[in-house]
Amino acid sequence: MSKERHYLPKGREIEIFTLAAENRLPVLIKGPTGCGKTRFVEHMAERLGRPVYTVACHDDLTAADLVGRHLIGAEGTYWQDGPLTRAVREGGICYLDEVVEARKDTTVVLHPLSDHRRVLPVERTGEMIEAHPDFMLVISYNPGYQNLLKGLKPSTRQRFVAMSFDYPDPEQEVVIVCQESGVDKQQAQQLVALGNDLRRLKDHDLEEAASTRLLIYAARMIGAGLSPREACLACLAQPLSDEAETLSAIERLIQAYF
Ligand SMILES: Nc1ncnc2c1ncn2[C@@H]1O[C@H](COP(=O)(O)OP(=O)(O)O)[C@@H](O)[C@H]1O
Ligand SMILES: [Mg+2]
Repeated sequence: MSKERHYLPKGREIEIFTLAAENRLPVLIKGPTGCGKTRFVEHMAERLGRPVYTVACHDDLTAADLVGRHLIGAEGTYWQDGPLTRAVREGGICYLDEVVEARKDTTVVLHPLSDHRRVLPVERTGEMIEAHPDFMLVISYNPGYQNLLKGLKPSTRQRFVAMSFDYPDPEQEVVIVCQESGVDKQQAQQLVALGNDLRRLKDHDLEEAASTRLLIYAARMIGAGLSPREACLACLAQPLSDEAETLSAIERLIQAYF
């Protein structure tokens, strides 16, 4: 594995992202967990030579967590920029992962940054920061497990160039699993075939399908010496469900392969 974050393109996402970056447009990536969104953004940041500030959004994340806050130090209070403000000043990529989880007050700071204004209002200091030309806002979310209250408002989504990601095609996924784990091609092929069968099971019993990430975990555990069957149970069965019936359906599939 090389140090650079390797990314195998699935379609035209590299070209689209590059053009959005050149034209100073923000990007929205939607897709299921573990399909390569974060890896793609990290790869693009390296390609474009920009620092990336990744924020995993959660339901307590406020605008201040993104923008910054006053802290108390030895010499009194001082201001500390948050990740968004740093990216805005330096010309970096701010990547807000699972943005629908964040508190609604974050849209107040995201809107003026994601349209033609490209400014960040810092309420607490009264500053209005004009974004560096290389600043780029990237957000992602998983449309699969959105609760009704949460979705992204049209007024937010309509500020972004959007693309939809999915798990790679089987041939591509085999290459990715080999590269990321070091197992041989034949083992990767078996894992990917099993993964695709599990994805078909998804509609019936599972909330989330077996992701590329989990296939790589299983491959790494096999590479480290665990038997394929145990590795699949630990990486492709248990993480997917708590229900006995669903688990035994998955186990039967695993047994058919290993
Ligand atoms: N197109 C790809 N090229 C290279 N690796 C990939 C690709 N897609 C997925 N991966 C692998 O899958 C793992 C999980 O992807 P990640 O970007 O973390 O998913 P997400 O952010 O969508 O949840 C990555 O760490 C990487 O090893
Ligand atoms: Mg991610």
